[in-house]
Amino acid sequence: MKGRIFSGVQPTHTLHLGNYLGAVRNWVRMQKEYECIFCVVDLHAITLWQDPKELTHNIREVTAAFMASGIDVEHGIIFAQSQVRAHAQLAWILNCVARVGWLNRMTQFKEKAGKDRENASVGLYTYPVLMAADILGYKATHVPVGEDQKQHLELARDIAQKFNTDYGVELFPLPEPVIGGPATRVMSLRDGTKKMSKSDPSDYSRIKMTDDADAIALKLRKAKTDTEPLPGPEALDEKGHIKREADEARPEAFNLLSIYAALSDRSLADVVNSFAGKEFSVFKKELTDLAVSVLGPIGSEMQRLLNQPGDIDRVLRQGAERAEAISEPILREVEDTIGF
Ligand code: ADP
Ligand code: NA
Repeated sequence: MKGRIFSGVQPTHTLHLGNYLGAVRNWVRMQKEYECIFCVVDLHAITLWQDPKELTHNIREVTAAFMASGIDVEHGIIFAQSQVRAHAQLAWILNCVARVGWLNRMTQFKEKAGKDRENASVGLYTYPVLMAADILGYKATHVPVGEDQKQHLELARDIAQKFNTDYGVELFPLPEPVIGGPATRVMSLRDGTKKMSKSDPSDYSRIKMTDDADAIALKLRKAKTDTEPLPGPEALDEKGHIKREADEARPEAFNLLSIYAALSDRSLADVVNSFAGKEFSVFKKELTDLAVSVLGPIGSEMQRLLNQPGDIDRVLRQGAERAEAISEPILREVEDTIGF
């Protein structure tokens, strides 16, 4: 039997190159091997206040990004979390399984809540339990995770295990992480030590999936670099990985080279060899052409889809029906087990 993947993205801002290379593109490639369920996690988004009009737009935009990247809605499922009741219902049940001490150890809450923790929403605190419900509510066997979500997946496994033990059942399978290919961590164009993020205040820090050729060219021209020519093979170890000292000395250079490698599906060693000793101006031109050739068609397809919002809404409705067909019986099984 095929494994089942569940993964989601928050509809908060326009998706960027990091989301594409680190998540969406990998999902597209997993479609053959796995049964895929992709969720626009709008319940997660409202753990921080969202403007209602923007939220509605962003739900459609993330859906368009999935479709334009090559997620096949005939085979896989794309839907919005809020349209399937099982997520919130199962999250409540799992809130009663998870322990306060477990949530207190989640580092992302500490980062996102910042200094004023007392004033964070309760939803932000219990967010990882909702994520556990997303995954377990479909008995997903595999979850593609970035670095930042590893701890949350570990928690989902702990919750599944405790539920099974508490009720003496083998109801939930323990979901396994699937680590993506190269460039699982795309860094900011303005600071090679920070990850490219939707929430970075600088628009020049990221290339958006909707950026046109001019915007991509401008952002790459402005991307931070150093004054040396590009590094050569001496910066890599025998496995082709960047040596730690080299990466620490020139994070921006290696970020751009890694982006080039990921976009062209070539190994980093191969790309480093081709540009060794060249000037950044030369390399950035080639990177721009490459990025435009990959993202350009996706961006215009997104635009085309967004001009037909009714079609996107229909995809989401059909996706929700198919998602419900899987999650409703599982929720009923959980309720039976508990004694409801
Ligand atoms: P952001 O961190 O920009 O707010 P999300 O948290 O919504 O983005 O992440 C959505 C998906 O994209 C996750 O699977 C996450 O691991 C991946 N992702 C986010 N930023 C990056 C990045 N800079 N490099 C690689 N993958 C990323
Ligand atoms: Na994030």
